[in-house]
Amino acid sequence: MKKYLILTGAGISAESGIKTFRDSGGLWENHDVQQVASPQGFQEDPKLVWQFYKDRFNQSLAAEPNTAHYALKKLEDHLQDHFHLITQNVDGLHSRAGNERVIEMHGSLSNAFCSSCRASYRLADLDLSCDIPSCEKCGNSLRPDIVWFGEIPYSLYEIEQLLKECDVFMVIGTSGSVYPAAGFVMTAKLFGAHTVAVNLDRPDNLGFIDELHQGKCTQMLPALVDKILSK
Ligand code: APR
Ligand code: ZN
Repeated sequence: MKKYLILTGAGISAESGIKTFRDSGGLWENHDVQQVASPQGFQEDPKLVWQFYKDRFNQSLAAEPNTAHYALKKLEDHLQDHFHLITQNVDGLHSRAGNERVIEMHGSLSNAFCSSCRASYRLADLDLSCDIPSCEKCGNSLRPDIVWFGEIPYSLYEIEQLLKECDVFMVIGTSGSVYPAAGFVMTAKLFGAHTVAVNLDRPDNLGFIDELHQGKCTQMLPALVDKILSK
């Protein structure tokens, strides 16, 4: 059985009603991306940044996984250990669709951690009525557990191993413009994987894609998964 490795981005959640980043001209839900997605932005205005992520958290809870998320659940059910999913998304929709082998490389809207002692918290357990939630252990400010610009994504070592081992690497709903994730397709291809993209627009790293399925995730992915399962 072939080993499949999937990388998803904002495009897969677009049809669940969650806005992508670059499609709205550098604005993310009407905010300057740097202001709400960088350590400097958080330092300058933690209240605004927290409000932004509380809103995103509530938005993600109100959203539902779509047929593209469920297609990946179906693929994992079939492939089991031969399936791994890396997501740049922080909305939790892959887990809510039932996928288990998920690496959230850019963190999660559901979590926060202490900037000082690094204790971690679930947003569901915090009192979100205060402007800036604080750490029960040391009293310092908590921050959203989101990998911001200039920070190092999670699980890079594990991801590198998976990129080297996979037979098929699929990138779904991602512009291919934010590194290091945008470079994964190159690594996978150099190590011999067949590379597939499912995306509305042509991704920036198209040069490393063997097979492009251009269109909406919900229209392309269920059929593509059925084709893989029928092999
Ligand atoms: N189906 C398929 N693709 C879609 C759909 C859809 N319904 N809607 C949008 N897309 C595609 C767009 O064509 C675009 O290429 O999804 C891509 C989304 O690109 P970005 O907005 O750049 O999102 P992403 O690639 O996930 O961004 C990467 O950047 O801001 C950071 O950390 C943040 O994880 C994020 C990272
Ligand atoms: Zn603390």
